[in-house]
Amino acid sequence: MNLSIIGTGYVGLVTGACFAEVGHRVICVDADANKVRTLQAGGIPIFEPGLDALVRRNVAAGRLSFTQSTAEGVANSEVVFIAVPTPPQPDGSVDLSYIESVAREIAGCLTGYRIIVDKSTVPVKTAEKVAETVKRYRKTDADFDVVSNPEFLREGFAIDDLMKPDRIVIGTSGPRAVAKMREIYAPFEAPVIVTDTNSAELIKHAANSFLALKISYANALSVICEASGANVQEVTRGMGLDARIGTRFLQAGLGFGGSCFPKDLSAFIKISEQLGYDFQLLKEVQRINSAQMERFLQKITNTLWVLKDKRIGVLGLAFKQNTDDIRSSPAIDLCQRLLKDGARLKVYDPQAMEKAKAVLKPGPALEYVATAEEVATGSDALVIATEWPQFGKLDWTKVKSSMATPILFDGRNLLDPSEAATQGFTYKSIGR
Ligand code: UDX
Ligand code: UDX
Repeated sequence: MNLSIIGTGYVGLVTGACFAEVGHRVICVDADANKVRTLQAGGIPIFEPGLDALVRRNVAAGRLSFTQSTAEGVANSEVVFIAVPTPPQPDGSVDLSYIESVAREIAGCLTGYRIIVDKSTVPVKTAEKVAETVKRYRKTDADFDVVSNPEFLREGFAIDDLMKPDRIVIGTSGPRAVAKMREIYAPFEAPVIVTDTNSAELIKHAANSFLALKISYANALSVICEASGANVQEVTRGMGLDARIGTRFLQAGLGFGGSCFPKDLSAFIKISEQLGYDFQLLKEVQRINSAQMERFLQKITNTLWVLKDKRIGVLGLAFKQNTDDIRSSPAIDLCQRLLKDGARLKVYDPQAMEKAKAVLKPGPALEYVATAEEVATGSDALVIATEWPQFGKLDWTKVKSSMATPILFDGRNLLDPSEAATQGFTYKSIGR
């Protein structure tokens, strides 16, 4: 089928490439001229494992192309996906201006029946607004349907999540649209939930808020485990093996970050408030998440005492493993806090250093180094801030001998505490 995707970012590009991989012809549209030029020249503007090869293969096969023109996308596709950002506003509500302007652009070039699909994460009732907007601004009486089809892609694992989804949600009132959407997703072999647009939109916010709640639950347990001498990893494993609970998203650590959970939680709290419900439970999820960072910083100051001029090595800047994304990254937040207290940092991340330099400027107190080992050299302490698995597998004997004082703060529980102690580290982790 001929498809177009408006917004070629983390979500739009992966979605477009995966649709092309299963045989659809996809035009990816983006307003950013530089991004489109890079993609047309064979470059990939983001790091996502496997994406480079997937894009190249499908461009070579003539199934995937890039343009800046929404009109070109709309003219040459039966189904138009919207994957532009929906950033948070200062009060937590969602800025829907990109969605609105794209809806108007689509309306302006609508000449025949099209299915307009919202893939961006949006508040409940957005599809209704998109439909009103398209109706208001279309220049012909061309018919259309609006579908809510939320994404559930984890950065770093996005291709797998798209190719082998747990479920596909199709929210719409148009039977014609349901048939076409089923056809698009037929190669993906997953349970399909067909529902109304409002329910589909709520599924996304409800799912992400629940996953964030699981993480905050594990983080709250980590406090109890520390106070009682228990081990949070043992506790969450013992809980999670109950099939009704599940072991995933119960990893205690520095708290969740990224472009989705913090924003989606704030948005869902705000939406609930506007609908007359005070979602206290989710406010507590947010509070636990911020408290987790405070507690970790407290551990660092309790151990190092004065931070001014202490040399601290930080492993990890991305908001999680397998990505170069630093949006709302707990690791970046941690670095900013340590710098504010006068510490001198050496930092390293396998993928995120270029992006990090835009928010954490290199200078006399902040040095970017080329390897994880260099971060340790001469340091008074080392901090693991992102769960890149390779950080857990460093040569710790070598690391220890290169440090000024062997103190290790493991914000992601990557090491075994008894092994770290055997190596001679003063070792602090989360809930163990
Ligand atoms: C997406 C979703 O759209 C967001 O709602 C969801 O919660 C997270 O995932 P993401 O793909 O991560 O966002 O955003 P980003 O990587 O910033 O990409 C968005 C792209 O849209 C950018 O390339 C930007 O240039 C483009 N864009 C933005 C347009 O093409 N037109 C616009 O009007 C605005
Ligand atoms: C999330 C959703 O999982 C995905 O379905 C989609 O809706 C987009 O938003 P993403 O933000 O890419 O994906 O990453 P995710 O793997 O969910 O991790 C989010 C944050 O939670 C990261 O900072 C991660 O470090 C943290 N996390 C995750 C934990 O602290 N503990 C866990 O057990 C899992």
